[in-house]
Amino acid sequence: ARVLLVTSEAVPLAKTGGLADVITALTAALRKQGVDAGILMPGYPSAMDTAKSLRSVGTLHDLPGGPGSLLSGVIPDMDVPVILLDTERFRARTANPYVDQYGGELSDNAISFAALAHTATRICAGQTVLPAPHVVQANDWHAGLIPALLRTNNIQGVGAVMTIHNLAFQGNFPIDLAPSLGLPPYMLSPDCAEYWGQLSFLKAGIRYADRISTVSHTYAQEILTPRFGHGFEGLLNQRKNDLTAIPNGIDVDVWDPRNDQMIVQRFSSVDLKGKRACKHELKRLFNLLPINPFAPVLALGSRITHQKMADVALAALPTILERHPYLQLAVLGCGEPDYQRGFQQLVERYPGRVGVHIGYDETRAHVLHAGADMLLHGSRFEPYGLTPIYAMRYGTIPIASCVGGLNDTIVDAGSVEHPVPGANGVLFDGEQPQDMVDAVNRTFQIFTRPQEWQKLQVNAMCADFGWTASAQQYIDMYRHIATPDTRDLF
Ligand code: ADP
Ligand code: GLC
Repeated sequence: ARVLLVTSEAVPLAKTGGLADVITALTAALRKQGVDAGILMPGYPSAMDTAKSLRSVGTLHDLPGGPGSLLSGVIPDMDVPVILLDTERFRARTANPYVDQYGGELSDNAISFAALAHTATRICAGQTVLPAPHVVQANDWHAGLIPALLRTNNIQGVGAVMTIHNLAFQGNFPIDLAPSLGLPPYMLSPDCAEYWGQLSFLKAGIRYADRISTVSHTYAQEILTPRFGHGFEGLLNQRKNDLTAIPNGIDVDVWDPRNDQMIVQRFSSVDLKGKRACKHELKRLFNLLPINPFAPVLALGSRITHQKMADVALAALPTILERHPYLQLAVLGCGEPDYQRGFQQLVERYPGRVGVHIGYDETRAHVLHAGADMLLHGSRFEPYGLTPIYAMRYGTIPIASCVGGLNDTIVDAGSVEHPVPGANGVLFDGEQPQDMVDAVNRTFQIFTRPQEWQKLQVNAMCADFGWTASAQQYIDMYRHIATPDTRDLF
């Protein structure tokens, strides 16, 4: 059976967050299980440069915003086919794919991603030389128009899944853009894509998909409530019976301390010795001085945003640093400029104790996770949360918010007096700086007991986060929505 995953990011072609990791790994896992899965995404310059064996497979002349060429290729070193939509607008996205250098949304986002959705619809309709898929999976708002366009154009025989990786990003645009996006007037009713006077790509997807999926069990429950529903809780409750939770996995080969070539020494859960050298390297790279092997290192590595509680961390960290005089802090991330500045000011205030690297850096991320003792990962909401799992793979204990996927993947350690068997991290409730401070303090109490700490580390390193089981769940979902005559193909 054929499945087309439509996305705005896929590693190593383009990435700003976890979506990119998930799409490539999921597609590869589906293929391993016999599904002919492939990716459709924008032909950003980074994607055009990175994809291999690209060849032209046609041009679509009447897309919103101008013509687009289709190029078919593969993701390097992987058995993952990819189709790139090459348009003038995507070609201009040389840096971040969504925002300009000041962090403002690019003004042609609506028309660019509408073109992507129309392209997917044409492929589904068999109007290109590419074989039509049996199921199309629209990922996040960028692909949200697809289920609605399939309906509008009366395209039969293709099941549509809307997968929510982050409900906070909805693709809401001025409604008067609709005609230029190739959307018929009736799509603008509140029963379809209209949302508080705007046009919402994600709403259109949720409304018309045969099935809606999201990336963790807890998040699937949370988004039915006003606190986490971002205004879509009503619609999601209406479609509750079609909402499925399928947890993400991670690429266990890329994030593996036994084979990782980006870290200075390899190690494993049965022999953690190499982690010491990795810690030394982390301190060197982040200018944490003096390099004292006993000084614990707390890492923070994520998009530096409100979602990731960067504001709360900035308020909590001075207290944490004062309270634990040997503690050193390494920060890797980029995001909202004010928060970035806040972290840089910490370096000035605590020279030698705080090291900050603002920017996106894959190698540094490996060094960070391998070398740190703990990872502080606050989230106001977290659909899944790959970063803490990457840390866990290296025996770095996450201190994370008890929300979304984190609630499903992290087992809280309890207290020194009442340790929890099988624990692999620390979870905290709340969004106040004190909630974070308390969680770090609790973690330190365990850290000072090497035997207890090592138990946490081994549990963290041995947990299974591979894709096999989740890919099977996707296949079951695809089968469920495929037409009766193609069901057996899955
Ligand atoms: P989200 O998708 O919400 O950002 P996830 O934790 O699921 O959260 O995924 C984030 C991904 O982006 C991970 O692969 C993480 O390693 C990566 N990442 C985020 N910021 C950086 C950075 N500054 N440098 C390298 N990798 C980063
Ligand atoms: C989103 C979420 C993150 C999730 C990722 C992949 O970016 O914020 O929690 O892990 O998508 O599904």
